[in-house]
Amino acid sequence: MSEEIRIPDEAVASAESHCGRPVRWDLISSRRGSVVWKGVGPSASVALKAGQGDGAPITSREITVAERLPGHSPLIASGRTEATTWLITPWHHGPSTWDVFHTVRTTHQGTQEARDAAVDLCLAVADLHRQGWVHGDLQPDHAIHTRTGIQLIDWTWATSRALTPSRIFRGGLPHLLAPELAAEIKAGHRPVKVTPAAETYTLTATLWRSATGTWPFDYTAACKTEGSITGPGARQLIASGQLPPTLAPQWPAVLSVLRIAMAAPPEARPSASDLALLIADAAQ
Ligand SMILES: Nc1ncnc2c1ncn2[C@@H]1O[C@H](COP(=O)(O)OP(=O)(O)OP(=O)(O)O)[C@@H](O)[C@H]1O
Ligand SMILES: [Mg+2]
Repeated sequence: MSEEIRIPDEAVASAESHCGRPVRWDLISSRRGSVVWKGVGPSASVALKAGQGDGAPITSREITVAERLPGHSPLIASGRTEATTWLITPWHHGPSTWDVFHTVRTTHQGTQEARDAAVDLCLAVADLHRQGWVHGDLQPDHAIHTRTGIQLIDWTWATSRALTPSRIFRGGLPHLLAPELAAEIKAGHRPVKVTPAAETYTLTATLWRSATGTWPFDYTAACKTEGSITGPGARQLIASGQLPPTLAPQWPAVLSVLRIAMAAPPEARPSASDLALLIADAAQ
């Protein structure tokens, strides 16, 4: 279904008035009723996200977040046709956290670029938490490391005191969920509320994933192959607290900081700004 989503005429007109004409459209991703294009014009580049079917309410919520969240993800335009809900935001130029950690993953050596990127990401999340917001869906692909700083993307599930969680939210990428949040979701608590401490766990797990290419817990004893684990299955296993941590050979000084942070109970977990300091010290 999602392959058939077309760029609405009104979105093209909005992009042309922002970027100049002509705008070249590159398809970036198309998943679960949600399509992202990069639009490149003579004076600016934009991201256009369009949702249809199950993707439409999800895109609507991202629009609501963009309207309310100060200083992040500025909304250039948004709209709705009978079939499609869409929004346009600035395109952020730079590698994702996953991209920045490529050398660490493949050579097993830490790099100054990866250390700086990890610290910047932690400080960006700390800033967000200080503003009373949580992103709700941190992942290695959801932070762009630009020349002028971190830009988080895919804000659909962000919350604050003034914007309560959506009832269709299921906690974000299951493998990166804090165990206490996985347990709450499994127990049926709705809506799913991501606390700053749970998000800091996901931030740590995001860095672990980026540095190692593995998930924080080793599922092999519980499931024959990682691919056989469903989202609910992963949540149940993480909530059980019975999974062994994954072992990985990359960058031992930093991985040990991440491992200790992930093993701490929520009340003793380092905050995002603590994590920035711990990583900066460990990676000297
Ligand atoms: N503003 C942006 N600047 C740069 N890249 C972007 C931007 N928005 C989206 N992207 C790129 O498009 C990809 C998909 O965007 P996004 O995560 O918002 O869509 P999605 O439909 O929620 O995807 P998924 O469900 O896989 O998370 C991102 O991983 C990123 O590579
Ligand atoms: Mg996404």
